[in-house]
Amino acid sequence: TSMHLDIHGVPMCPRSFNTDTINMGLAYIARPDDVFIVTMPRSGTTWMETIVYSILQNGRAFNEDFKDFTARTPFLEQHGGQGIVNMRRPGSIKTHLPLSIIPQHSQAKYIYVVRNPKDMCTSFYKFIKTMPGVTHSDVPFDTYFDLFIAGRANYGDYFDHVLDAWSHKDEPNVLFIVYEDMKKDIRSVIRRLAKFLNVDLTDEILERIVQVTSFDYMKKAEYNKHLSEESAGHLFETRTVVRKGEVGDWRTLMSEEQSRRMDARFKQTMEHIPELFTLWDEYNVF
Ligand code: A3P
Repeated sequence: TSMHLDIHGVPMCPRSFNTDTINMGLAYIARPDDVFIVTMPRSGTTWMETIVYSILQNGRAFNEDFKDFTARTPFLEQHGGQGIVNMRRPGSIKTHLPLSIIPQHSQAKYIYVVRNPKDMCTSFYKFIKTMPGVTHSDVPFDTYFDLFIAGRANYGDYFDHVLDAWSHKDEPNVLFIVYEDMKKDIRSVIRRLAKFLNVDLTDEILERIVQVTSFDYMKKAEYNKHLSEESAGHLFETRTVVRKGEVGDWRTLMSEEQSRRMDARFKQTMEHIPELFTLWDEYNVF
């Protein structure tokens, strides 16, 4: 198992990232017209990127012009400060770093997407399994699970990441979105996003956005391949960003005992915040 990079205490995979690029990304001076998409990995980041792109481009699909999509969706950790400075605007900046440590501007917009930790952990493990050389890609799930619970997997502690974002969620320039709510009612999420981004959507454009960001649309082989390459800088051949897109896939990997340990960790860290603690009540997660 290779070592981690340490970015402000957040463990990062050295095969995928380098410290200088990340630090230059963090040193980027945010602007009022910036839109940041902040997530733990495998929480629906790419889905959110395609939706924001379509909202800002009047219903345009991400695959109509892949170059344009790429130019408008830099990844802070991979493209650094220069990548953001050079981005085509309007666009959005993707990052998996905690909300509190990324570039701040009181008028910039921050969209945080959270996914339940059981599916996030499962999806991420299945993902790194396809990327030889990535930190922990070579360990069995049981070991990975222990690291995840201990906050020592890639990108650090899930619970710290979510609590950090949650502490900002009432700020007017922060929008907190739940992946499972996107699965349940994407139209209302898109409406909330459009309002947050100050874009008026006609019903027709709304329906078009729903269509071109749907799981089936994004899953189409050639689009998926492109999305996968874009998000990894062509480092890996086999990875698939758009995979299954379901709530509850954790049941394919997690034992009863592991599930209970996650329940306990969730309870221990979130119980004192009822709004967070009940977030997944209707989705049969905990
Ligand atoms: P699974 O591995 O559970 O299938 P990210 O972009 O942050 O890496 O997130 C990837 C996860 O989002 C994957 O989860 C992927 O299938 C899911 N996803 C991607 N596009 C989606 C869509 N249009 N609808 C639902 N889920 C989607």
